[in-house]
Amino acid sequence: MKTISIICQKGGVGKTTAVVNLSTIFSKKGYRTLIIDLDPQGNVSTYLNFDKNTKNVTSSIDLLSGVTEIFTGELSENLSIIPSNKEIARYNDEKIIGGAKISKLKKYGLFNEFDFVFIDTPPTMSSLVQEGIAASDYYLIPTKPEFLAIEGVAQAMSFAKTTLKNIPNVNAIFLGVLLNQVETRRASYEEFLSELEYLLGDRLFKTKISHLTEIADSPFYGKTVIDFNKESKARIQFNKLAEEIIERVDKNEEIT
Ligand SMILES: Nc1ncnc2c1ncn2[C@@H]1O[C@H](COP(=O)(O)OP(=O)(O)OP(=O)(O)O)[C@@H](O)[C@H]1O
Ligand SMILES: [Mg+2]
Repeated sequence: MKTISIICQKGGVGKTTAVVNLSTIFSKKGYRTLIIDLDPQGNVSTYLNFDKNTKNVTSSIDLLSGVTEIFTGELSENLSIIPSNKEIARYNDEKIIGGAKISKLKKYGLFNEFDFVFIDTPPTMSSLVQEGIAASDYYLIPTKPEFLAIEGVAQAMSFAKTTLKNIPNVNAIFLGVLLNQVETRRASYEEFLSELEYLLGDRLFKTKISHLTEIADSPFYGKTVIDFNKESKARIQFNKLAEEIIERVDKNEEIT
């Protein structure tokens, strides 16, 4: 089982979009996939039309309160969810140092029935994000191609590093930075890209996600990229990204 958290303190960079589309693709590939929503906004549930207040489903607040068993919500074949709800907001405090409660549950084998777990996190540097990082084998940082985003990426990387240094027995690996909402025609794009390539080297994903109206509209229609036709740019790009993630994870497993 591999856990990947999607983090960035900047809002609106595509964390939830990445979680929703990647987890759907992974589930269609036959991987038993779980989404854990650690964001009080609960956007994953809204996006996928899942009622966050469904009874008898374990929520992420239950995970933080310590449970010994989980009852996931079923979204589709091979795709399950542990939704968040507003109550979790009290953990979204930048002053509380996040523990590693979810990481402990993982060590007890609570998520073992899954092949991949994707964790959505809020746009903060809070204990909730620390919980996500601590519970992960990998973390991925999405960003928009904007000048100030370089600083945002550096801040997210340093937050993850500090988190991992301060919590014992956790060791998530930096999977990479995903450029999302790319508009190649923008004059500043090439310059931005070369700067990011210089800073990140092979930690910048080769696959980039374009700014596409079909993606922007998809939460409204409750669609993910697999609902688009096979030739759609959004579907092709997210499929490629999924392949690149699997490749990176496999390569890393070989080394370690
Ligand atoms: N590649 C894209 N093309 C067009 N629109 C996009 C793309 N990626 C994301 N969006 C849109 O941008 C908005 C923000 O995306 P998303 O909610 O995934 O970001 P987020 O990082 O999870 O935000 P938050 O920090 O608030 O949780 C959404 O309306 C989404 O549909
Ligand atoms: Mg989000």
